[in-house]
Amino acid sequence: MEGEPDRASIVSGIDRRVRTSLNEMPGQTRLMAWDDLPDGALAAVETVIEGDPESLILHRDGDAVRAWLNICPHAGRRLDWSPGQFLKSKDGLLVCAAHGASFELSQGACVAGPCKGDRLRPVGVELRDGEVWLGVGDPTRSA
Ligand code: FES
Repeated sequence: MEGEPDRASIVSGIDRRVRTSLNEMPGQTRLMAWDDLPDGALAAVETVIEGDPESLILHRDGDAVRAWLNICPHAGRRLDWSPGQFLKSKDGLLVCAAHGASFELSQGACVAGPCKGDRLRPVGVELRDGEVWLGVGDPTRSA
């Protein structure tokens, strides 16, 4: 990784591949069990949205879950260095493994690096019956 690798550490090894049908509607796609996503963790989930394969970043923050497309706004690369293996700075920023852009985890905004001022694309997700589901409605909008 370019950037400042000494300031970041690997924070999660969660990698989920979700089998979905092209006929599934948003809200019917189970992404992962809530208990498999520890507080503060980041996970990569491979799924299908509107017929297209997508990798998602899931982040648990207490009782909340957030999701973004696993696509860096800088050069379109995945943010994890290996599926589900993300870098996190000491101050809690998600660091893109490609060129070191740093993102805060409440809104997905890039606060440092080559795409500063840009943001990750949010994906709507919801917690229901102990599972994280792709959100109802447009799944590429924030929940
Ligand atoms: S692709 Fe360049 S910083 Fe993420």
